[in-house]
Amino acid sequence: MVFKTDMPRIDSNTRLYAVLGSPVGHSLSPVMHNVAFRQTGHNGVYVALHVTDLPGAVAGIRALGIHGCSVTIPHKVAVMGLLDHVDPMARRIGAVNTIVNEAGRLCGFNSDGPGAMAALLEKTPVVRRRVAVIGAGGAARSLAHGIADHGGQLTIVNRSQGRGRRLADELKCDFCLLEDFSGVGYDILINTTSVGMVPDTDQMPVTHACLRPGMTVMDIVYNPLETRLLSAARRAGCTVVDGVAMFVHQGAFQFERWTGKQPPVQLMRRTVLEVLANQRR
Ligand code: ATR
Repeated sequence: MVFKTDMPRIDSNTRLYAVLGSPVGHSLSPVMHNVAFRQTGHNGVYVALHVTDLPGAVAGIRALGIHGCSVTIPHKVAVMGLLDHVDPMARRIGAVNTIVNEAGRLCGFNSDGPGAMAALLEKTPVVRRRVAVIGAGGAARSLAHGIADHGGQLTIVNRSQGRGRRLADELKCDFCLLEDFSGVGYDILINTTSVGMVPDTDQMPVTHACLRPGMTVMDIVYNPLETRLLSAARRAGCTVVDGVAMFVHQGAFQFERWTGKQPPVQLMRRTVLEVLANQRR
């Protein structure tokens, strides 16, 4: 799919940015960041690089002076050992998805936690709210640390005990088995599992009975944009936060780190939604 935009200005001062991952063919980051660069007059170009040799790629960032990178599957953990500095939040989460090249010093951050929090805070306060995070994988870790840092009262809800309890112990919060979860007493519910993602769009991670009016329900899945969980939540009188909001806000955090400029969040969101809509045609 070719997304039509004006050609960016490219000259000898153009800064280079990239997403490093495998696969990266479907990444929405290039179109989102390039639109943001153009809108704000930042002289940069963002490309997708299919990377299997991570140490070689990081050496390449240094050698070529690439200004900033996004890091995605499967490199988010391994990249930490190749950088000069890792931000304390990213270290706690145990994953880096953002590299900033500060005059040759490669610094790692995690924008997933702050991105998810920004998306949630647009719709609801978190402090002292009871928050159920469904899942205990990498996405759950980023989000759960963000919730805890913002003073939310967290419960990890997971299908299996081992992983769920480990994350809950690390965060010193409650744990609940998914099959025992009722939703009673919770203000915010966040799905961090892939349940409901294409092709299994008829699935949802909790029963309808768990969704109560007044709750805020967030899904990190953005394909489809309105998952079965979110449409059920809307019908149940909940406020909903879709996965594109989190994706865009994590990108906005990266943009700000790289450029020092205010990210054009609404334009970034409109652009991502347009690309997703075109992909579905
Ligand atoms: P990521 O790092 O992208 O978050 P992950 O590490 O594979 O992905 O984590 C997937 C999470 O989704 C896990 O918490 C998993 O539960 P288990 O720990 O019990 O495996 C959860 N998950 C995946 N499929 C699920 C399903 N069908 N129902 C409920 N939970 C599911």
